[in-house]
Amino acid sequence: MKMETRVFPDLDALSRGALEEMLRAMQDAIKQRGRFAVALAGGRTPAKLYTLWAHAENYGVRTPWDRVHLFWSDERYVPHDDPVSNYRMTRETLIEHVAIPADNVHAMPTDSPDPAKAAEAYEAELRSFFGAGAPAFDLQLLGLGVEGHTASLFPGSPALEEKKRWVAAVEVPAKSPRRLTLTPVVLNEGRNTFFLVSGADKREILAALRSEPSSQASQYPAGRIQPAGRTLWFLDEAAGG
Ligand code: 6PG
Repeated sequence: MKMETRVFPDLDALSRGALEEMLRAMQDAIKQRGRFAVALAGGRTPAKLYTLWAHAENYGVRTPWDRVHLFWSDERYVPHDDPVSNYRMTRETLIEHVAIPADNVHAMPTDSPDPAKAAEAYEAELRSFFGAGAPAFDLQLLGLGVEGHTASLFPGSPALEEKKRWVAAVEVPAKSPRRLTLTPVVLNEGRNTFFLVSGADKREILAALRSEPSSQASQYPAGRIQPAGRTLWFLDEAAGG
């Protein structure tokens, strides 16, 4: 597949590069639609970006937090204060440092005994947010797992074939197996998609993705996310140099 990549010397530089592009996408979205809707990723790589965003005023850019809406592309089905919660990571790196209204923080619910019910509730929240329009995030941040997973869409997952539902409750072959994830129905609508990929352990999967013919559906979940909007791959040297 074709990838538009930006390669940076290290995670710090990658995060600064991604922040710059993100702030540009934010300004465009607010100018055009009056708000900036972002789907956030978990993982080690984006945490740095969230910290930088929280302090972006230091770089002379003011984020109008009342116009920003935070959503998540996936979540571990654990309480929000659990150490492995994606929400918790974002709260600690970003949310508690900025003046974002509580109503603009759309965490995936994880308190129902039935994850399928939570997936339905989150889909209802997305449907009310996007109204009659397509579920097109202004920006979706995604990670890449060594076996090609993105969000909590793992190889072979039935959620990859989903044609209707926007959010799925899944069991994945990784730590915290119970997860909620956005499905490709949503992720293939994104106006901007940034994959954030760092570390030498990602070299092999990046090479495999790059060498796949664009004419065929990818065998990797990350390669199945190909929205018509802009997709950029932010890589550090270790992963993609
Ligand atoms: C998980 C991981 C995963 C992560 C990617 C990339 O599913 O358990 O947290 O979703 O985002 O594996 O991870 P890093 O950015 O930490 O390399």
